[in-house]
Amino acid sequence: MSFSAFDLRCESQVDPLGCDFALPRLSWKLSAEKGERGTCQSAYRIQAGSLPGLADLWDSEKVQSDQSVFIPWGGPKLLSRQRVYWRVKVWDSGDKPSKKWSDDAFFELGLLKPADWRSAKWIGGPLVGGPHTSIPLPRLSRTFTLSKPIASARLYVTALGVYEASLNGQKVGEAELSPGWTSYFSRVRYQTRDVTKLLHEGENALVAELGDGWAVGHIGWRERGTYAERPKLLALLIVAHPDGSETLVRSDNKWQVSYGPRLAADLLMGEHYDARLPWTSLGAASVFPAPELKLDAQNGPEVKVTEILKPVRKPYRHGGSWIFDLGINLVGRIKLTVKGEAGTTIKLRYAEVLEKGPLATDGPIYTTNLRAAVNTDYYTLSGESSGEVFESKFTFHGFRYVELSGFPGEPTEKTIEGLVLHSECDKTGDFECSDPLINQLQKNIDWGWRGNSLDVPTDCPQRDERLGWTGDAQVFCRTSCFLRETGPFWHKWMGDLRDSQGPNGELPPVAPFFSGALPQDGGAAWADAGVIVPWTIYLAYGDQKILTDNYDLMKRFVNFWISTAKENLRCYPGYEKQGWMGFGDWLALDGSGKTDGGTPKELIATAYLAYSAKLFSKIADVLGKNSDARKYQSVFEKTKAAFLKRYVSPEGFIAPMTQTAGVIALHFELIPESLRPKVAEWVVRDIESRGGKTTCGFVGSSYQPHVLTEVGALGAAETLLFQKGWPSYLYAVTMGATTIWERWDGWTPEKGFQDAGMNSFNHYAYGAVGSWLYEKIAGLDTDEAAPGYKKLILRPRILDGLTHARATLQTPYGAAESHWEKKKKALVWKITVPPNTTARVYLPVQGDQKVTESGKSLDKSVGVHSLSENSLELISGTYEFEIK
Ligand code: BGC
Repeated sequence: MSFSAFDLRCESQVDPLGCDFALPRLSWKLSAEKGERGTCQSAYRIQAGSLPGLADLWDSEKVQSDQSVFIPWGGPKLLSRQRVYWRVKVWDSGDKPSKKWSDDAFFELGLLKPADWRSAKWIGGPLVGGPHTSIPLPRLSRTFTLSKPIASARLYVTALGVYEASLNGQKVGEAELSPGWTSYFSRVRYQTRDVTKLLHEGENALVAELGDGWAVGHIGWRERGTYAERPKLLALLIVAHPDGSETLVRSDNKWQVSYGPRLAADLLMGEHYDARLPWTSLGAASVFPAPELKLDAQNGPEVKVTEILKPVRKPYRHGGSWIFDLGINLVGRIKLTVKGEAGTTIKLRYAEVLEKGPLATDGPIYTTNLRAAVNTDYYTLSGESSGEVFESKFTFHGFRYVELSGFPGEPTEKTIEGLVLHSECDKTGDFECSDPLINQLQKNIDWGWRGNSLDVPTDCPQRDERLGWTGDAQVFCRTSCFLRETGPFWHKWMGDLRDSQGPNGELPPVAPFFSGALPQDGGAAWADAGVIVPWTIYLAYGDQKILTDNYDLMKRFVNFWISTAKENLRCYPGYEKQGWMGFGDWLALDGSGKTDGGTPKELIATAYLAYSAKLFSKIADVLGKNSDARKYQSVFEKTKAAFLKRYVSPEGFIAPMTQTAGVIALHFELIPESLRPKVAEWVVRDIESRGGKTTCGFVGSSYQPHVLTEVGALGAAETLLFQKGWPSYLYAVTMGATTIWERWDGWTPEKGFQDAGMNSFNHYAYGAVGSWLYEKIAGLDTDEAAPGYKKLILRPRILDGLTHARATLQTPYGAAESHWEKKKKALVWKITVPPNTTARVYLPVQGDQKVTESGKSLDKSVGVHSLSENSLELISGTYEFEIK
């Protein structure tokens, strides 16, 4: 592979269609021969034009720079619907240009102004059955004639509710549950589809089926109709003809509304479909006044079917039903294939586990933990002689088991398939080691993320909740960045958080937020997501825009916390009377017997005030806002002083001491250097005294293994990792889990199921340990001063209990790898530093061990050696160290 640029991306995406970035940022990777060292860019040139290969819009000329990620658009102001082709030429460190330009990439703008919607109207059907019900669900359609050939065509479309559009009988695009969930009080996203190939000259039919989705159906534990009483559609089809003219088809009263087989569809309750019922027109669609909300472009990943799972064994009979096991606790829906008499109704129920427990292989399904989410689909057969297929469209379930009642005859393994749904983000990371249980844990973490990243980062995907809990999101965000390319996903969610910020600057416990059920102030560790998530994304991808976009949100939030703290103590005693104390160390098993754990909420809240102020100060520094940087650093110092005065004795004893109190005090750097060993020692001893077990809940556990590693107590972190009794990471794995459980003790042989009021088997929060496996065990990290892996920190920790560990990560610059293996006489460590990056490498050397690289002793040819820390500064390339 010769030196050149490839994998061109606009805002981290390949050829995005219908985006609305004012200054889209362009990125590419550099190709390098396998193993080649020192590939880097000294200059680049971008050309952008209205056609491939043209530079009529922008020619950056040669720019001396090693930047290859997030280069802002430098051409003229972009216009609605404009398509821009772009390409890159790069120069290497010797100023030699790439032989050829990169392949052309493109991005295309959406509708940037309200007037671009060309008077398209919001339309829908009549309410059938009373207020707050749109049962059955409507289908809107319009036929139109195209009398000229078609050059290109775009459909711009969205809904309040969810929609599926089709043209001439073919589904438009692959996305599901569009337009996804945003706070529809303030904004909804529209999608742009290239429908050129779906149209023809002559008569065409554009159809959109509507479902209740988040806007109209049940969300959380609420009644229906949080945002709207019925689903509505907004659509604009623009067909361009070769002669330069256009045909427009817009949503208006020329559309027809029909009702038919989809009798009900609700995200939480399930779907009812009677295949016997034809679509019957009720006449013209109703036109509604435009809701007061912003129309934003999609700009990020969409929900798609990403995998199809087959049952792992034959269905078994229970009572009059059949039960299928798909082997994995997935999120999505099923495809049912059936043949039978017209009018036969099949009932489908879904569950994560069986009533006899997670290891059982027979007996009924367990649905009590789904609370009020009915999660049941009904399908009534049309009696088609060749058989029929049912796939629900506007619902999703979190399940491993499917119970089928009323099935005609005997089903086979082929009767059911599981369609996995989530926001489609490219897979970027992989972690693998010599312990099969840890490998399974890693898989469970990934499935947990897949199931809980359905447009919104949720707590759980199965019960009547499925909300964008801010606390869960912030603890897992770092891990998500190892698993997948999640930058655009989190950008979107930060928009949800901006829409959800209270007038005083408070940030809520869930985003999108709806008032009523929950306080506007999310409390410590939950509301702090507003600062932690942007900072995490900045580190993982080197993306400054997430900091600038959310600077105002962060500042208002930190100021709110400062304004409600007394003498720098947040949630000081007595605060409860005035406001919300937060969720504490949620679900800690620290002997307190309380769901919010035994670590005082005011201690947690004060620690987080310090932490958020410190992160915000760093963010201000990155953005060159020096006075804010100083101001919030001093808030950190003052809060730290208040924390020490109130909670920490001069001997380094935190009162009251819990593992979580110690862990956060250490992680947030609230403990003076001289007392750190004392606090660390207490945490380690407490773990030992409990037979090698954690007591941490959501708050403490996400930092615990990191902190133990950093304070030199790797052994204690290893003990926690290998622990198999609950509470521990591997306990659920030994119970056959395929996702992460909400509770350490979701089910135990002694006690059976935990309180069904809150017992999800797919909750990613404790999966936050994933980042530790990548970052500390394989040792793949980024330098804060050169984020997004422009400079890597490679520092593996060799665990006694493993013989090898390996992580790969597709960074913004290309693939990085760290792979260590204990061989008979030596430790072999192979690493890959991606092109256009450098690395600081910490060699896992013990005592007077010697190091060679690819058989040669370490000299200048292998980076710059810094003896003090056994560290090397390396250029890109692959290396193989042998340490013995
Ligand atoms: C959710 C959690 C959330 C918590 C806060 C639960 O119901 O499932 O994940 O963070 O409430 O109290």
